[in-house]
Amino acid sequence: MVKDYRVKNLDLASQGKESIYLAEMRMPTLLRIRKRFEEEKPLDDVRIGACLHVTRETAVLLRTLRAGGASVALCGSNPLSTQDDVAAALVEEGFNVYAWRGNDDEYYACIQSVLQLNPAILIDDGADLIVTAHREWENLLKKGFGAQEETTTGVTRLRIMDKEDALKTPVIAVNDAKIKMMFDNRYGTGQGVVSVIKAMNVLFAGKVVVVAGYGWCSKGLAMRARGLGAEVIVTEVDPFKALEAVMDGYRVLPMSQAIEEADMIFTSTGCRDVVAAEHFRKMKDGTILANLGHFNVEVAVDALEQMAEKKRRVREDVDEYTLPNGNRLYLIAEGRLANLVTLGGHPSEIMDLSFSVQALTAEYLTKNHGTLENKVYEVSEAISQDVARVKLETMNIQIDSLTRQQLNYVRSFKVGT
Ligand SMILES: NC(=O)c1ccc[n+]([C@@H]2O[C@H](COP(=O)([O-])OP(=O)(O)OC[C@H]3O[C@@H](n4cnc5c(N)ncnc54)[C@H](O)[C@@H]3O)[C@@H](O)[C@H]2O)c1
Repeated sequence: MVKDYRVKNLDLASQGKESIYLAEMRMPTLLRIRKRFEEEKPLDDVRIGACLHVTRETAVLLRTLRAGGASVALCGSNPLSTQDDVAAALVEEGFNVYAWRGNDDEYYACIQSVLQLNPAILIDDGADLIVTAHREWENLLKKGFGAQEETTTGVTRLRIMDKEDALKTPVIAVNDAKIKMMFDNRYGTGQGVVSVIKAMNVLFAGKVVVVAGYGWCSKGLAMRARGLGAEVIVTEVDPFKALEAVMDGYRVLPMSQAIEEADMIFTSTGCRDVVAAEHFRKMKDGTILANLGHFNVEVAVDALEQMAEKKRRVREDVDEYTLPNGNRLYLIAEGRLANLVTLGGHPSEIMDLSFSVQALTAEYLTKNHGTLENKVYEVSEAISQDVARVKLETMNIQIDSLTRQQLNYVRSFKVGT
């Protein structure tokens, strides 16, 4: 690819390299894949366009894809999540990077820059890259190998396209792999409660925390908030999930009631206006709002801006809104993914799993080029199992395996009472 980039400050490159170094030592599964990629070059000459959070862990993925023979161009998948030092380090290593923290206005221009480099594989987080390619780059999709999607909201959008027969490329739902969802969404996002500690240094013990949704991410948030001593209330729209939350020992209430008790509110539903104008009026003075869902629509920030009599930045990534009734609400990270903005995203150990799946999926799309239909595919169980097995090995954890007798037993219907 031609040498081209747009980042904030190349002088930050050495700091970025140190940051990537620290991530890399906690991503042994991906490093093992990299070693094999170096020998086998499964991505020889493949161009990859990625729209991901530009974090140190993403850098480790990019290095791995390049070790496999690919050239990679990268833009950010969220205006506030780019780590400028990492972006600079990647440019210094020769990657085409189009990303900087605070890129609201040229977000889509950066996506266009990636597409202009003719990638055969698209790696996305939220589906903005894939949807843009569908709108304006149909030929590129026709020639390409396919796309892979990192997050629930992105997969939801792509499944709707599939249902409406609008997909023009095969898509692999990386998010839905067991090895991704069970760990990244639950334990990674769950640890995102720390974003509020980092932003506000607030005590959880004795507080009431409202968690919107009881899917993979919010389950993790509820678990970790409870672990820190908070009383957790869950809100849901799905009766099964609501029942699960009840049986897990949480109180379940409609948001309009829960909101009155809340000291903190976490949203992670993939839905919009989960916390809306009518809720702001009912909140206590000092309530903290943090969204961990993909888009900044879960908390109705526009409505809050309109209602508030005063807004001021009180700490890095914390805005205080004063309402006409005098109550002050604290919004973390402008309502964007609080863990990405304040903490730099999931810990490296978690991204080791998710990005191992991404690397192996790129290999899969390359190998199967021309044989896949334009629809959403699950990640093969073999890839998920492989990543789980290697991760355990790198953690020095052994598990049992079935004996021949046990195998025969579990595969047979003949033995009963
Ligand atoms: N912050 C991160 O690092 C991170 C990581 C992974 C996923 N995500 C994002 O988090 C969001 C949730 O992902 P998930 O994997 O947990 O999804 P999920 O589908 O497992 O769970 C979402 C839950 O929210 C519930 N819900 C939907 N609308 C609701 C509403 N209005 N009120 C209450 N509950 C509602 C659903 O019934 C469901 O149980 C997505 O936007 C996803 O892309 C963020």
